[in-house]
Amino acid sequence: MLDKIIEISKEVGEVIKEDFGKHHLVEYKTNLSNIVTDTDKKAEKIITGFIKKEFPSHNILAEEGSRKEGNSDYLWVIDPIDGTTNFAHGLPIFSVSIGVMKKDEIIAGVVYDIMRNVIYSAENGSGSFGNGRKLNVSKNDDLRKSLLVTGFPYNVAENPDNVYEKFVAFLKSSRAVRRLGSAAIDCCFVAEGVFDGFWEVSLNPWDICAGKLIIEEAGGKVTNFKGEQVSIFSPQFLASNGYIHDKMMKILLEN
Ligand code: IPD
Ligand code: CA
Ligand code: CA
Repeated sequence: MLDKIIEISKEVGEVIKEDFGKHHLVEYKTNLSNIVTDTDKKAEKIITGFIKKEFPSHNILAEEGSRKEGNSDYLWVIDPIDGTTNFAHGLPIFSVSIGVMKKDEIIAGVVYDIMRNVIYSAENGSGSFGNGRKLNVSKNDDLRKSLLVTGFPYNVAENPDNVYEKFVAFLKSSRAVRRLGSAAIDCCFVAEGVFDGFWEVSLNPWDICAGKLIIEEAGGKVTNFKGEQVSIFSPQFLASNGYIHDKMMKILLEN
């Protein structure tokens, strides 16, 4: 199955790359910050068409509205472009993110970092890879020397979840905090040991389904802000190399 996910990720990645830098038809979802382009919709249609052909019984949950609910144990969770705002503005940081669940377990995940041409992939129990190279989280246990990443929900202006306070607290207690604009790529960079930790609220299942498995298979830890196990539907996401997890939790709980 992983080979199939990689195949469709590459195929649709080429289509997205061809559209990059061109003028886009943009529609607004919930507000002026939350946009979708014609390319997001086109990419999602290509991916769901592929699944319906190759795995006709499988269920589908995709960001731009594709749903297929049946009796199958398998669910494909798809973000056709993670980082749409970057894509629409010409910033080359965006990805295709596809995770596959069997019942409640993520069994395979692929994030294609299109402009860097890196396929991040993982299968349950088999490790994580970036273009075939095995990934490992960092070994840094000092939060003050950590490079962290986060993101903000589209309703950040109204979101009461102390998003700014947490951001400021981490700015003061870590080496630096980045905001790349693709949660799926953020996850892969944790898996690769580039970032030591990543936190965000209000992510959607398609943002993190593949990324969560890629982090865990690289030896990382994913929980909510209280340290409890999370599903892809959880409103809080805390991922780290494991070593700085408790320190990050403390800051998230105190701010
Ligand atoms: C967004 C990105 C971003 C995160 C947002 C997501 P989209 O996904 O992953 O990094 O901060 O919360 O909604 O809309 O570009 O697919
Ligand atoms: Ca997304
Ligand atoms: Ca998206």
